[in-house]
This record gives sequence, structure tokens and C-alpha cells, in this order.
Amino acid sequence: MKKIFLYFTMAVFVFGLGLAAYAVHEIIPSGYKVPYPAADAERVNEYLIKYNPYRAWAMWPGKGKLYKAAEPHGALLTTFVNDVALESIKNKKGMVNNSIIAKENYTADEKFVGLTVMYKVKGYNPEAGDWFWAKYRPDGTAEVSGKVKMCIDCHSKAKDNDFIMTSKVK
Ligand code: HEC
Repeated sequence: MKKIFLYFTMAVFVFGLGLAAYAVHEIIPSGYKVPYPAADAERVNEYLIKYNPYRAWAMWPGKGKLYKAAEPHGALLTTFVNDVALESIKNKKGMVNNSIIAKENYTADEKFVGLTVMYKVKGYNPEAGDWFWAKYRPDGTAEVSGKVKMCIDCHSKAKDNDFIMTSKVK
């Protein structure tokens, strides 16, 4: 009798699991794309860490892990780009909306010291390429974010290249 009860419970459980899997499938169809985040430091961080983890993205074409760089971002950099940014870099017609560049900054002895992000948001800041700028500490809190003058001033040297310094994107 006990055994029958056990089998019954198991059958109900397995059926339940199947149902749950089906329900989840209904809610999140395959090919679902997480919406792009608002131009806000916390939302962008959440997106980069949780919803579309940047470490799974491609690296900047021609740049590997921990490549040597000039100041101010750190002695060594690892730069990740989302799919539309990657396309843009390859197409050489400037960066399209929703391009995200997430650059990890390291000291010469490979200590991670922060993440600097550029995220192109349509209509966000037309005078400066519509880029949302953010610099995060290793714990994910933002040091600066938004239309950051300091970032824009220096990156303006590459105004004709959509404010991009790493390589030609136009
Ligand atoms: C004094 C100049 C300077 C300042 C200030 C500066 N950057 Fe940069 N940035 C650079 C240079 C130079 C590179 C290219 C690094 C390399 O490849 O050696 C770069 C690269 C980048 C990249 C990779 C994409 C690209 O443009 O090549 C991102 C993202 C970035 N910076 C974000 C920021 C953010 C966010 C800030 C402000 C918090 C900032 N930068 C401030 C000079 C600067």
C-alpha cells in the first residue's frame, strides 16, 4: 500500500515538473531576447551581470585578454562587445544603437580594478554620439555614470570615429 502511494506521489511530481517546464517554455519562448536596459547605472550593471553576461560576449576584434594599453584605463585591458557592437566594428559605418562595450581594467599585475562601459542609446545625448558612460568598481557599484564630462572630453579626440578610441570603426 505504501509503495503504491509512493509511486503515485512520484507520478504526480514528474507530471508537475513536466507541466512547469512547459509553462516556462510558454512564458520564455526560445529565441527570446532580454530587452536592452535603460540608460541608468544600476539597470545597465544588472543587464551586464545577470541578463546578458558580458563575459560571454565576443572580445574586441583583434584584441585578446589582458592586452597592453596606455593610461588612463589601466595597464591591461580586456574589452567585450555585444553582438550589434561587433557587427558595427566589422561594418565600419560607425556604431549602431544599442551597441555596448564593456571594458575590464587591470593593473600591470593583473588585478581587476574596474569596468568601464559605453552604451549607445538612441536620442540619449546627440551632441556626443548618444553614448551613456559608466565606470563601475569591482563590486559593481558605479563610480560615475551618465553623460560624464570627463569621459566625453577625452573621447572627443575620436569624435570623427564615433568617440571610439580602440580602433577605427568608420
Ligand atoms: C584621458 C583620456 C580618457 C578618459 C578620461 C577616458 N577614456 Fe576611455 N579610452 C581612452 C583610450 C586612450 C582608450 C583606448 C584604450 C586602448 O585601447 O589602449 C579608451 C577606451 C575606452 C573604451 C573602449 C571603447 C573605445 O572607445 O575604444 C571604453 C568603453 C571607455 N574607454 C570608456 C570610458 C569611460 C566610461 C570613461 C569615463 C569614466 C572614459 N573612458 C574616460 C581614453 C580615455
